[in-house]
Amino acid sequence: MMEPIRDAAAARGLPITVCGIDMVFGGRGTPVQALAAVSLEIAAGSFCSILGPSGCGKSTLMMLVAGLYRPTEGHIAIGGKRLDGCYTDAGIVFQTDVLLPWLSVLDNVLMPARVKRLDMAWARSRAGDLLGQVGLSGFEARYPGELSGGMRQRVAICRALLSDPPILLMDEPFGALDALTREKMQTDLNRIWADDVKTVMLITHDIEEAVLLSDEVIVMSPRPGRILQRFPIALSQPRSPEIRRNPAFHHIVDEIRDLFRATGVL
Ligand SMILES: Nc1ncnc2c1ncn2[C@@H]1O[C@H](COP(=O)(O)OP(=O)(O)O)[C@@H](O)[C@H]1O
Ligand SMILES: [Mg+2]
Repeated sequence: MMEPIRDAAAARGLPITVCGIDMVFGGRGTPVQALAAVSLEIAAGSFCSILGPSGCGKSTLMMLVAGLYRPTEGHIAIGGKRLDGCYTDAGIVFQTDVLLPWLSVLDNVLMPARVKRLDMAWARSRAGDLLGQVGLSGFEARYPGELSGGMRQRVAICRALLSDPPILLMDEPFGALDALTREKMQTDLNRIWADDVKTVMLITHDIEEAVLLSDEVIVMSPRPGRILQRFPIALSQPRSPEIRRNPAFHHIVDEIRDLFRATGVL
């Protein structure tokens, strides 16, 4: 029987290392430099947000960490191992939920178990737990078309977490949701992460979202994306929504806003 549970260290997440990355897209016309000299380290089990203006190379960075793009210069390492090709153990969530409309909620969540040939009894039990954690118990037999945008994105998060991945990559996962749903999802994500710690890289252009959720926020410049500054967020985890009233929260949000103003982003 395949045993999907990893050793204790990997179960708590693996560190992500981005080392000296330049990314230039070629093709027809003039080459586009998306990223310049990007280096960062995300500690195992920590929650890191990459914050930057539209077009600064955030999605490109995520694709590089997933091993779906090859860097022009530099390398990526996960758990100290240099990537050479796709990193198939990452959980990935995109802005649009990309669920399969002809599969039920449960079967969508179970998709990675089928692809990776995990033990199905284990996978079903984990899927049930995950759906329960995001308030979707009772919706297992529904189809994506019967759900709201927020519910579909919850299903996508459960699917990404199904195989107990050592890293979770999220590219603006709440970008398409209305403001209230977004706030609820942020709180839920923080709780899920606090209960079952993984290394998370969250891509966002929302300053408050980044500060609310992260142990560290990495702020990027406009294209070609460079790291402007790293902001450790020393507020205790897990975070309650009330943290939005905390002066320390606003202080960091303002500092980041000032940095964007100084660099002409705002
Ligand atoms: N596959 C690609 N081919 C060519 N250019 C690309 C590709 N992906 C992204 N780019 C370019 O790289 C830059 C950064 O894009 P992206 O990483 O999507 O930014 P962000 O996610 O921060 O909005 C943009 O100028 C975009 O046009
Ligand atoms: Mg993007």
